[in-house]
Amino acid sequence: MQINSIGVIGAGQMGNGIAQVAAMAGLDVIMNDISEEFVQRGYASITKILNRSVDKEKISSTEKDEILKRIKTSTHINDMSDVDFVIEAATENEAVKYKLFEDLDTICADHTILATNTSSIPIGRVAAQTERPEKVIGMHFMNPVPVMKLVEVIKGLVTSDETFQITWDLSLKFGKTPAESNDYPGFISNRILMPMINEAIYCLYHGVGKKEDIDTVMKLGMNHPMGPLSLADLIGLDTCLAIMETLYDGFKDSKYRPCPLLRKYVESGLLGRKTGKGFYSYE
Ligand code: CAA
Repeated sequence: MQINSIGVIGAGQMGNGIAQVAAMAGLDVIMNDISEEFVQRGYASITKILNRSVDKEKISSTEKDEILKRIKTSTHINDMSDVDFVIEAATENEAVKYKLFEDLDTICADHTILATNTSSIPIGRVAAQTERPEKVIGMHFMNPVPVMKLVEVIKGLVTSDETFQITWDLSLKFGKTPAESNDYPGFISNRILMPMINEAIYCLYHGVGKKEDIDTVMKLGMNHPMGPLSLADLIGLDTCLAIMETLYDGFKDSKYRPCPLLRKYVESGLLGRKTGKGFYSYE
């Protein structure tokens, strides 16, 4: 099956990054969100990143215009009726995602594949909201999407081999390197990454070290591009907490308990870069 058009649900930091890489791969994109303000903010963010690429002479100004022309914005989910492949990157909330998949299932053409960029919600549960579970799959991008090379492709129990292959090939077309994961809590990426971040927060909570020292140890000692507390701020502390809770609920193993300090930050509305303050300040 030839994929010519992509629908992206959600114009936030993941959604607009996905829309950008899809358009850069030459595909027509419809980027959808619930309000005009959200889609315009997402579009402005793509424009800003592409302008930077023009300044750095990575792309020409004509190429930038062509990429932007391929991205249409939408605030109506019905606009997804003609796309070949939908990538849902809405907020990491089960009820929101379930309703979206129920709606997409009735709106989209029969051949359309429905992928979710969830970082931890089971693919099988999302697929069960539809009458096409064999065409539902996980397509998990990393933040910042235009920079990070990985796409984790997650097969639900009933995802078909054809759906898997199309998603794998699409990841390659996006210029990414796919990795296959089965549908268990946190998949591969967050099963490994999030307990490390949670443990870094425990180090802060227990006073083992100051935030800067915890990050310096992991940055310079382990050659990570950024320390775990900075990374948590980049991902969003609410997302980190949601993933830890999924791991804890899924395995019922105390090693996945979220650090109380993480919960306290989230309850206080300190969610990281997106709110201007998390472990660090971004004002
Ligand atoms: N969008 C687009 N491009 C960006 C960007 C963004 N938000 N942030 C940085 N870049 C680009 C810069 O423009 C720059 O491009 P050039 O090489 O063309 O100049 C390049 O990335 C490097 O940026 P900087 O020089 O400003 O900074 P850096 O070298 O420190 O890199 C970083 C920044 C790429 C974010 C790097 O620190 C990094 O790789 N951090 C780790 C990120 C990571 O682990 N992400 C995965 C999180 S887990 C996840 O997303 C999944 C989940 O489910 C939780």
